[in-house]
Amino acid sequence: MNAAPPPGATEEEFQRLCDLLYRQTGLALTAAKRYYVDRRVADRMTATGAGSFASYFALLRATAGGEMELLVNSLTVNETYYFREDHQLRCLTSSLLDQIIQRKRRDEPIRIWSVPCSTGEEPYSIAIWLLENWPAVDDHEIEIVGSDIDTRALAAAREGIYGRRALSRLPPDLVAKYFHPAGEERWQIIDGLRDSILLSRVNLVDGAGIARHGRFDVIFCRNVLIYFDPPTKARVLNALAAQLQPDGVLYLGGAETVLGLTDRLVPVPGERGVYEQPREAALAG
Ligand SMILES: C[S@@+](CC[C@H](N)C(=O)[O-])C[C@H]1O[C@@H](n2cnc3c(N)ncnc32)[C@H](O)[C@@H]1O
Repeated sequence: MNAAPPPGATEEEFQRLCDLLYRQTGLALTAAKRYYVDRRVADRMTATGAGSFASYFALLRATAGGEMELLVNSLTVNETYYFREDHQLRCLTSSLLDQIIQRKRRDEPIRIWSVPCSTGEEPYSIAIWLLENWPAVDDHEIEIVGSDIDTRALAAAREGIYGRRALSRLPPDLVAKYFHPAGEERWQIIDGLRDSILLSRVNLVDGAGIARHGRFDVIFCRNVLIYFDPPTKARVLNALAAQLQPDGVLYLGGAETVLGLTDRLVPVPGERGVYEQPREAALAG
């Protein structure tokens, strides 16, 4: 495949593009990422027929939703796979969910949010893990929501078809139980599981969009804060803390922390990458 030629933006034009993307998505794109951004912009310029960077930038600003959405889709890093950091799933079923249900009415659903969910491996992993490892799974209504800014990733999550790499950490008996073959080296998640996950587009830097999703008992926000600068990380963490039930927990990725960013979340003692609200906030919540 022939790559499109670089868009030839001046440094000032490139900076204006990064500023716009930062405001829209929180993604901190710097001069060090210039080559990566240039390639995607060049592809979008070819696709839209924009003859110069200036006309592409004008198009981006004029068609607020459409072209911006497609450029963002091409810039996101969607790396994910089944049973990623499964020690966190283990801690969910070994103690946290049991504590959460103690304070719930029986008819109150347990709400779990995978944000960002990328192409769906994370929310489907949570569902499979609970079915396999939590004896109380049939006694409670469990709502799992998967959200991401990338509409292309969400469409893939909705389709639920995966290759060998995405499934490599799943034991073969679980692949046989929860997937059916969908072509050469492809497997599709079974309908029952696919239909049980609610998928929605969410921009983590849009506080109102986050608030619309209501309160959750468990939020997985893994491997996205690494793409944000400290003020954006703090803003996202505060917004997510506000969506946690008083005894809810937030999971972050292995390279992420709340420390130095917010005092609305503190580490859960003895667990890696799991956070809760400080006691006073939880009691007030
Ligand atoms: C590396 S994936 C992480 C997926 C999954 N949580 C995991 O840990 O395997 C990062 C995801 O963050 C999403 N993302 C980036 N910026 C976002 C934003 N502002 N709001 C919501 N999702 C965003 C990307 O589209 C991408 O799918």
